[in-house]
Amino acid sequence: MKLVIATRNPNKLEEIRAIFQINSLEIIDLRSYPELAPTEEDGATFEENAIKKAREAALATGEWVLADDSGLAVEALHGEPGVFSARYAGEPSDYRANNAKLLDALAGQTTRAAVFHCVIALSSPDGTARTVQGICRGTITNTPSGTRGFGYDPLFVPEGNTRTFAQLDAEHKNAISHRAVALRLAISEWATLLDNTGSL
Ligand code: IMP
Repeated sequence: MKLVIATRNPNKLEEIRAIFQINSLEIIDLRSYPELAPTEEDGATFEENAIKKAREAALATGEWVLADDSGLAVEALHGEPGVFSARYAGEPSDYRANNAKLLDALAGQTTRAAVFHCVIALSSPDGTARTVQGICRGTITNTPSGTRGFGYDPLFVPEGNTRTFAQLDAEHKNAISHRAVALRLAISEWATLLDNTGSL
């Protein structure tokens, strides 16, 4: 069976492909559907946006679709940037500008706790959707470190570590990240269904 991953973010796609491995599935992504317009991410929550992305792509392609919506919630900023993580410093999305804005917002702040959130939505071809969630707790550094990963990775030290996500190798990030937690849950909840092409 085909499963479409509804993301145009190459870093997310790589992480999803590395973790979400179910033998019977032929995994493709939105590059196979260049005519599809991007989903407007106007939901108030990660869950709303993940469902919207999965459902729109499922109805447009007639396939089963998996979508990710994720972001960073910083305690001292009352949960910001949250659902606005990708466009925190404006549009188009610019990781360097987002990181600079976050460091400015936290200047002089000693409370540097933050949580990465990830919601994975699965939609059947008729638009019925379910979600699972994962989080990863950590702290925000004072300066960026590391060159791997994407987004806020150079600023985020996951709990129990001394290095940022951008300093860890992909295997390490994929063992503990918010996306990894959600995707492992997705496998345990939906693998049998996807193997047998059941219904949600
Ligand atoms: P989305 O494409 O609307 O889900 O936006 C996700 C945004 O959240 C990304 O553009 C990043 O800024 C941030 N983000 C989500 N997951 C990660 C991650 O694993 N590392 C770093 N930043 C992330």
